[in-house]
Amino acid sequence: TDLSHIRNFSIVAHIDHGKSTLADRLIQMTGTVAERDMQEQLLDSMDIERERGITIKANSVRIEYPAKDGETYILNLIDTPGHVDFAYEVSRSMRAVEGSLLVVDATQGVEAQTLANVYTAIEADHEIVPVLNKIDLPASEPERIAEQIEDVIGIDATDACLISAKTGVGIPDVLEAIVTRLPAPTGDRDAPLKAMLVDSWYDPYLGVVVMIRVMDGVIRKGDQILMMQTGAKYGVDKLAVLRPKMQDIAELGPGEIGILTASIKQVRDTRVGDTITHQKKPCDTPLPGFKPSQPVVFCGLFPVDNAEFEDLRTAIEKLALNDASFTYEMETSAALGFGFRCGFLGLLHLEVIRDRIEREYDIELITTAPSVIYQIHMRDGTEIELHNPADMPDPADIDHIDEPRIKATIMVPDEYLGDVLKLCQDRRGIQEDLTYAGSRAMAVYDLPLNEVVFDFYDRLKSVTKGYASFDYQLSGYRTDNLVKMSVLVNEEPVDALSMMVHRDRAEMRGRAMCEKLKELIPRHMFKIPIQAAIGGRVIARETLSAMRKDVTAKCYGGDATRKKKLLEKQKAGKKKMRQFGRVEIPQEAFINALKME
Ligand code: GTP
Repeated sequence: TDLSHIRNFSIVAHIDHGKSTLADRLIQMTGTVAERDMQEQLLDSMDIERERGITIKANSVRIEYPAKDGETYILNLIDTPGHVDFAYEVSRSMRAVEGSLLVVDATQGVEAQTLANVYTAIEADHEIVPVLNKIDLPASEPERIAEQIEDVIGIDATDACLISAKTGVGIPDVLEAIVTRLPAPTGDRDAPLKAMLVDSWYDPYLGVVVMIRVMDGVIRKGDQILMMQTGAKYGVDKLAVLRPKMQDIAELGPGEIGILTASIKQVRDTRVGDTITHQKKPCDTPLPGFKPSQPVVFCGLFPVDNAEFEDLRTAIEKLALNDASFTYEMETSAALGFGFRCGFLGLLHLEVIRDRIEREYDIELITTAPSVIYQIHMRDGTEIELHNPADMPDPADIDHIDEPRIKATIMVPDEYLGDVLKLCQDRRGIQEDLTYAGSRAMAVYDLPLNEVVFDFYDRLKSVTKGYASFDYQLSGYRTDNLVKMSVLVNEEPVDALSMMVHRDRAEMRGRAMCEKLKELIPRHMFKIPIQAAIGGRVIARETLSAMRKDVTAKCYGGDATRKKKLLEKQKAGKKKMRQFGRVEIPQEAFINALKME
């Protein structure tokens, strides 16, 4: 295809502002999919995405659009993940296209993720077309929001498209704007092949599918290719475009986007951002800015029922096939038995994987406290990367500990600002900036990641009644006074509950943990001390008093069925119990104890 008749773009939006609905409309209006095949939210292929309303895996579609100038254009939409955990993938897919539609909900305005993603688009030199969505709603204020876009983001919004992705109003204008306002790609057909690996996923029928954007040269079926960063070599088995159904194609030239398969065994053999070239006549230099995404949050996943360990292994292996940024290794815990220590890009990533294991594989899980990666500098000059508090070396041998910090951007209506600032302060945040745009405030904080991985999102949502939006980037490591806090139940350490905390917050955390456990652990026939400790020193303590009578005692004299029922209920409850020395702790206790206030 002639380069001047190609437009490549992505859609930048905050969650729920209508990205998927708009994408569906664009596909529908260009007749790419027959009406009867049109399914709500075509691009969000996984159920879980649909349910949570988030787009996890990048996907793409090729649209043919007969424009008003009488010419037919090929529009390639690359769908980018909308969440902070996937910032690196977003920045990669942005490099594969020349422009973005900036979709802003005209009833809501600019949010933290809008900002983060639009800056990524600006960094990638995109031409940006602002699109104000949901103008069918009476509460929409397109003029005010257009002004806000200009004030906050600093791009011209006078020619913003006013649309309703729901009713279809304004969609033709968006299609025209893509053709007339976004630039065509450039590239040299005669140069050696240079293509970007934009995304990859596992398909049960095809194996690993790789999405590519050709920069220079031409790729054809049967070509012998080389992935420049990983050094892996393959033969191209299949070349296709997504419309959105797969359609085989003979070749892909400069500016084009498509998919290939090449007998690649697992997704982790492909690296997003890698450069694909020919083995015989490779290009001189790979594309710039490649860095493989690294997990930043770790936690243990254990089956509630030990017998399900093998099922858990299968589930984890399957999920990892399709997700190169999810890492795992086997872990044994004195308390929880066999499980896996898993690494994630962030908390949302963790939540998604955990939910999928529980729902798609029907395995009940115990998740241990999430941990970040600490850099432990030992007295002997060596350095250790600590992913798991259980592996903490003897404090006597440690010189100092560095922890990862983030730069967080929070946007919130004025009236909740006070609560947000207090929350950030409580989490050891340092304010870097505070600005206003209309009645919304934007606060920028430098925060320790370990204070965010617990329940920061949840707290933020609850103190702002859901009105705040949040985005973050890792900003580096800093030395701080960090210690490992252990939890002991009946004098037995429960490794799954140990965590790294700041020394100044240890007592508070310890007290809260002990109080919670006291409520969560059922009484036994004996008294149970519950303690939090740093090293050998107890910093908080609660005592769970002994049960006075047998539970069935109150049924004495009652009818036998009731007594039987009660015993059965106890038995069912037992399955979800864990034995710690002489104490049984219910599964919920772990889950709830780890949700710290
Ligand atoms: P993520 O996939 O989570 O990033 O969300 P999204 O930006 O793709 O938003 P989505 O398209 O799922 O839309 C979010 C909600 O807004 C859905 O309930 C849509 O039906 C609704 N919605 C989208 N566009 C419009 C619109 O123009 N008008 C109205 N009234 N509702 C809309």
